[in-house]
Amino acid sequence: MTSHATDKLIARLPKAELHCHIEGTFEPELMVAIAERNGIALPYASVDDLRRAYDFADLQAFLDLYYQGMNVLQTEEDYFDLTHAYIERCVADNVVHTEIFFDPQGHTARGVPFKTVLDGIAGALKYAEARYGVTSRLILSFLRHLSEEDGFRTLKEAEPYLGHFVAVGLDSSEVGHPPSKFSRLFARCREMGLKLVCHAGEEGPPDYVREALFDLGVDRIDHGNRAMEDADLVADLARRQVPLTNCPLSNLSLCVIDRMAASPVKAQLDAGLLVTVNSDDPAYFGGYINANYRALAHALALSPDEIRQLARNSFTAAFLDPLDKVRHIEAVDAV
Ligand code: HPA
Ligand code: ZN
Repeated sequence: MTSHATDKLIARLPKAELHCHIEGTFEPELMVAIAERNGIALPYASVDDLRRAYDFADLQAFLDLYYQGMNVLQTEEDYFDLTHAYIERCVADNVVHTEIFFDPQGHTARGVPFKTVLDGIAGALKYAEARYGVTSRLILSFLRHLSEEDGFRTLKEAEPYLGHFVAVGLDSSEVGHPPSKFSRLFARCREMGLKLVCHAGEEGPPDYVREALFDLGVDRIDHGNRAMEDADLVADLARRQVPLTNCPLSNLSLCVIDRMAASPVKAQLDAGLLVTVNSDDPAYFGGYINANYRALAHALALSPDEIRQLARNSFTAAFLDPLDKVRHIEAVDAV
């Protein structure tokens, strides 16, 4: 298949996105505009200056800028505008369903009320569904560099809004903060009827993926790259069809892989794993969903069937009702 035909197929396929941090969709132009609106001085002379700073040696180097960037967000309108801008990217890339992470602790720790964050994001998502037909779910993500107790406090604040999110997740600095640090918090969330996901195996060892799977009992693994180092773990993930939300451009930007051809996605497909393609923090890593599919398809020489399988997987792995999954998968197969 020509490169043009591959790009065309990717653009035409309906897709779900399952791993995107709303704070990571904060484009420099919008950040500068909101900073101005809120009377906040950014430590950069221009949008280009800000973009030039996006050159990361590892996850922590990115996280330092990611937290600095989100400090600009203060009002419900800010959160609405941020989310609305991301949804416009979904529409452009034929993402028809998205499951979005938000990091409440990154906002409440600065004095922004949980309600302000949620009302802004949820308001934009509701508007998006009515206006564009893009459906969505929210995933409340705990920051793993903070304590489990802090997570419990956040869960308490979130309780009045339980109907607004479908799952909880775990993100931020991975090494030194294993999933088992949060086993009581995740058990409580499970009791409350929430789905569970966890970033694991991005920089952390295969054992962190194992803990997420067997100690927390997660429904999906976010990233999961390093699971590939452990054949028994790969067999477990394949047998249980636990989804992995891979993020190609993120992996490259954060030096999880040294070149796109080193992405594990082809090997994961070959091993029968339920792997999906996602953008993670697209404003920081150089592209939204279609750019991630394109980079991957070209570097790994994916066949049209493999590309279609990735789109199908995105719906199979989503927190959608079975009938909606079937409807979306039929739409993929019709392309
Ligand atoms: N890993 C961990 N934490 C994060 C990420 C990520 O890729 N993006 C936003 N927070
Ligand atoms: Zn992530």
